[in-house]
Amino acid sequence: MPTPEQPVVPFSTVLRTASSAEHEAAEQSSFMSRLLGGHLGIEAYADLTGQLWFVYRALEERAEELAEHPVAGPFVDSTILRTAAIERDLAHLRGPDWREGLVPLPATAAYVARLEELAREWPAGWIAHHYTRYLGDLSGGQIIRGIAEKTWGFERKGDGVRFYVFEQVENPAAFKRDYRAKLDAAGLALDEVELRRVVEECKRAFQLNGALFQDLDTQYPLSA
Ligand code: HEM
Repeated sequence: MPTPEQPVVPFSTVLRTASSAEHEAAEQSSFMSRLLGGHLGIEAYADLTGQLWFVYRALEERAEELAEHPVAGPFVDSTILRTAAIERDLAHLRGPDWREGLVPLPATAAYVARLEELAREWPAGWIAHHYTRYLGDLSGGQIIRGIAEKTWGFERKGDGVRFYVFEQVENPAAFKRDYRAKLDAAGLALDEVELRRVVEECKRAFQLNGALFQDLDTQYPLSA
């Protein structure tokens, strides 16, 4: 039990602090650095978008079923769903038959399998993935959008970058504040063992993203 002199660290802070090394690694990964440094073509960006389609489909497909869950339920939010936006981007990037030939890379398949497992068996762990993706998309994702628009000439907030545009989130700062309050409430509802497991799952979420970047990176050898 924390004493009055030892205030409880809000769970949102715990998650951010615990995953900061993983965040840095993802941010500085070879694929992200090359992509955002302008060293890869639009095909690499399209490939990333295609892989994210599998990830978000897995994350969002079963979300409705979690709406009544005491811990995961408050995070189920139809205003932030990304699958439809990714599909519009893919139609722009790959054409109307975008689904043809789109296959998950091994790291994507592993990521999807974990998401499906969590939605089925451990909704509190699913929150860790929800946080890692959506709060990231609302934060660093906005930087990625700006670079993508400039690098590949997409219309501002238009086709190609709709994934990063949260049309129904009017005030991202307020949204993030409310989101952190939900994390803090979830933190109070879970016991210490469970909290530690969620923190580990968050690191795993970042690592799964890192593995996906790694797989994408190998598609584009340095000599190409
Ligand atoms: C080059 C790529 C990236 C850049 C430039 C970047 C940049 C940033 C920045 C500037 C913030 C802080 C925003 C704020 O305080 O409101 C942030 C937060 C965050 N990013 Fe990233 N990021 C990148 C990649 C990623 C990736 C790949 C993930 C995970 C898949 C991710 C997940 C997050 C999360 C979850 C937060 C919220 C942290 C918190 O406040 O709790 N980021 N990012």
